Order: sequence, then C-alpha cells, then structure tokens
Amino acid sequence: MENPISRNANQFLNDVIEGLSKREKSLPSRWFYDEEGSKLFDQITRLPEYYLMRTETAILQMYASDITDSFDSDVVLVEYGAGSARKVRTLFDASNRIRMYLPFDISIEHMDRTVARLEQEYPELLINPISGDFMEKGVSLELAQKDWKRVGFFSGSTIGNLSNKQIAKFMKSARSTLGKDGILLIGLDLPKPLDVLLPAYDDAEGVTAKFNLNILKRANRELGADFNLDAFQHSAIWNESESRVEMHLVSQQDQEVSINNQKFNFKKGETIHTENSRKMSIEYLSKILEDWTVNTYWTDENNYFALVMLR
Ligand code: TRP
Repeated sequence: MENPISRNANQFLNDVIEGLSKREKSLPSRWFYDEEGSKLFDQITRLPEYYLMRTETAILQMYASDITDSFDSDVVLVEYGAGSARKVRTLFDASNRIRMYLPFDISIEHMDRTVARLEQEYPELLINPISGDFMEKGVSLELAQKDWKRVGFFSGSTIGNLSNKQIAKFMKSARSTLGKDGILLIGLDLPKPLDVLLPAYDDAEGVTAKFNLNILKRANRELGADFNLDAFQHSAIWNESESRVEMHLVSQQDQEVSINNQKFNFKKGETIHTENSRKMSIEYLSKILEDWTVNTYWTDENNYFALVMLR
C-alpha cells in the first residue's frame, strides 16, 4: 500500500519545484498549514489587527438564531477548513438540531486536538473528521440520516483565497455534497479602506511574517531545501485591479537555493507569491456562484465582513 505521508511529501516537492520554476515564482498556500503553520494561523486570528475573525464571530453571535432558524430538521454540518473550530461553536450553542459535524482540515494533528476538545464539550454531537484538502477530496455523508438537512460552513473568507475557477469547482462539489435542499454559509471579507485592511496581513508583532516564512521552513525540513530564512522577507501588498491582498516572500539578495538537487536562482527583490486574499462585494460574489444563489446575508456595523447564506 502507498504510504500517505510520503505521497504527501511528493506532492509538496512537485508543487514547490513547479511553483519555483515559473517565471513569476509562486507556492500554493495549502502548504502553509502543517502543525506549526496551523498554530501560527490560530495566533493570527487572535491579533488585534486581524479584524476578520472577531468580526465574523460577532456576526455569528448576533444572528445565530436567525441563521439556525432555517434549520427546519436535524442537521449535518460540513465545515470546509475547520482549523480550531472556534466559530462553529456559536452554531452548536444556538441550535440543538445539529446532530453531526464533519470538520475538514488539512492538518491532521491540529484536527485531532480540535476534535478531542469538541467531543468533551459537545458529548451528544457525532463528529467525523476528514483530513485533507477540501478542494481535492469529496465528503461522504453515508453516516448521516437521509432526512437530515445538509449545511456547509465555509468561514474565514477562505473563498477569497481561491481563483474564480477554483470557486466554480468548489461550488459544484458543495452542491453535490449538500444536495438540492442544502444550505451553504460563507464568510466573506468585504472591500474596505486599506488602513484597516493591510495591517491584518502585516501585523506589528510579525506573526503573519512568521506564518508566511513557515512555508520555506517546512520545505527545509520536509524536502531538505536550504532556504535561508533571514534572506526572505514577508510582504503584503494591495493589488487594486484584482481587488486582492497579495502575500509575497521577497528575496533580500541575489541567491541560489537547492531543493532535491535542483537549483533555483533569486534576484534581489524577486518574490515568491504565496497567497491571494480577495476582497469581494456581495454583488460580485453572487455572479460567480454557479447554481447557488444568495438567500440572505448579515454584516457588522462597519460593513467589514458578511456572512452569506446560499441556497
Ligand atoms: N483566509 C485568510 C485570509 O485571507 C487566510 C490568511 C490570513 C492568510 N492571513 C494570512 C494567508 C496570511 C496567508 C498569509 O484572511
């Protein structure tokens, strides 16, 4: 049988080689989330600059009963990218109709801890974790009762980290998982002034920088690469025409990096593009949803963030 760990390392290696061979170097952001990366991201969500987490949580708390009112039967809830599953608790606390929870997460270690905690806090809830990339892997609902309502939860504005093509793919797969009566709840970070937006991706404490650089550290550890972490710097810039924050790692000098006997050259100032975080309006989102439609949405008083209910 194939060893899942080495298969994973192989994919990582392929992605790194492919991304760094491009004229504009890039690395796929899903590789951020090893155990250390997941912990760092958790820290990001608690930073004062990172308004996304607390705003989305506040919206959920404020409108939890409006949201769960549409749970007109028992519910199986699928969470795409569960992380520490902090926000979803608001829904568990607001409705006793949620019978089963299927958290999807790319970091197995992180998810095991999360699930252990949830099992203690919600002993009645059936929890079936799925480890892997929700863009690649399907969800099996065979353990859920046929008549349970299927609800998807895609929070944290992770949708903004996807391209339109990836969003289309995600929407189709969510429809086939959740069915024609399914509900999909999406957290969406809205366009806003840059003096609020940019610090969320470049915090004073440097946690986001550490998180971004962790992908190189991981390549060193898992692929035997020789990235000098001091020779790359985190940068977050606003791309107006694409309406997105771009995360880059900027080479501070001319340098050469070896990975698996291959050499990659970096000019001083050349960047590795690691992530996009798009900021979309509800109107824009509603045009790229395939066969989903915006049923209703809730926002905070500043209009920084929206929780969108799709049907
Ligand atoms: N979904 C999060 C966002 O777009 C992911 C994220 C937050 C992130 N901070 C980051 C990704 C820093 C890369 C680097 O806000």
